[in-house]
Amino acid sequence: MEKIIIQGRKKISGKVNIAGAKNAALPLMAASLLVDGWNTFSNVPVLRDIRTARLLLEHLGVEVKNGKEIQINAKGLHSYTAPYELVKTMRASILVLGPLLARLKQVKVSLPGGCAIGARPVDQHLKGFELMGVKIEIEHGYIKAKTRGLKGAKIYFDVSTVTGTENLMMAASLAKGTTILHNAAQEPEVVELAQVLNKMGAQIDGAGSEVITIEGVSALKPVTHEIMPDRIEAGTFLVAGALAGGTVEVAPSIPSHLAALLQKLEEANVKLETKENSITVKGGGSLKGANVTTLPFPGFPTDMQAQFMVLLSLSEGMSAITETVFENRFIHVSELQRMGADIEIKGNTAIVRGVKHLSGATVMASDLRASASLILAGLAARGTTEVTRIYHIDRGYEAIEEKLRGLGAELERVKDS
Ligand code: UD1
Repeated sequence: MEKIIIQGRKKISGKVNIAGAKNAALPLMAASLLVDGWNTFSNVPVLRDIRTARLLLEHLGVEVKNGKEIQINAKGLHSYTAPYELVKTMRASILVLGPLLARLKQVKVSLPGGCAIGARPVDQHLKGFELMGVKIEIEHGYIKAKTRGLKGAKIYFDVSTVTGTENLMMAASLAKGTTILHNAAQEPEVVELAQVLNKMGAQIDGAGSEVITIEGVSALKPVTHEIMPDRIEAGTFLVAGALAGGTVEVAPSIPSHLAALLQKLEEANVKLETKENSITVKGGGSLKGANVTTLPFPGFPTDMQAQFMVLLSLSEGMSAITETVFENRFIHVSELQRMGADIEIKGNTAIVRGVKHLSGATVMASDLRASASLILAGLAARGTTEVTRIYHIDRGYEAIEEKLRGLGAELERVKDS
């Protein structure tokens, strides 16, 4: 295993290049299953989750070529099974369910099971497919689903689900008739998937709002598409700049994708400058507390909660962070406490009292975004911080140490004996 060792309190400045969005790339890779012929996606991030998705597609018989761009051709699609070994490492594997039902009329996908940040069921996906004429059984840890043919349906989601909305949107694109998704997720990644499906010839209307209407078509055609920048990577570097800047330009990044975060940063007294395709943060000022509630888009993203907590730990006064999306997403708190943060958990709210400084310690990463938060804490802390079990970070951040080093931070990755 590896760990990252950080020498804290080095000023960072300069421009950081943001990679393509992981959570946009994964559904687009799944959408390739809907088409025979070569799809080409550029700006694909180099991440472990993308490699896992590639392995899964190849397991299904799909041809994948990976250079700077990724090219995917599902002409050879022959298997309808997504095995446990692949699904367990990446929940987003569930995204093959919709496309496989549309193409092969049957599918066997391992149930993703729990993960560090909560139970994360897929009942809303399954409810939607049942309404579209799919028979579903759960057997030996697998979802077994079969249909005589997908048909359009009106689906009311009980909770806003990103991959649930994406899964049903993909299936509905090749279903007979009209599907209407109510209480659909409005995340930018959902909008990008709808745009790409429309380029493929689908007829989707309303993505980005609560109601998405999909007219099924009989076939789709291959596309070429450039993936949008990763808003969570961008947000993470904005917090890094706020804590350890200097002036840091985060680009490419799309301010409207980060509006809730930008407003909270400004409430915390962070100085920002936005352009159409970049955001600049000026660190070094005094920070003040703010209250945050995580919500589906356009609310404050749960994927930025852990990183923002580090900022609030060093902000004057008291802040409250309420996590409403996942039930168990405060695992990083005990590690931040070990670095001197003053945080108290009450139910799904963390009460954060700002401290003057954090101090370096050995801490353990528990999930992807928690790993990012511990690196941020290490950048701001006095002395040396060692973040162990750092493998989580490679699922979602491309070359994070190199990017931070490029800005002047002092950190290295070493083997952890
Ligand atoms: C996606 C993102 C993830 C982000 C999350 C919330 C991808 C690949 N991952 O995950 O980074 O943290 O959105 O913004 O895009 N739920 C149910 N039943 C379901 C589905 C979801 O109860 O069938 C619940 C979940 O347990 C959770 C909430 O709904 O409490 C939101 O989950 P969801 O939007 O589905 O998250 P993911 O799509 O897995």
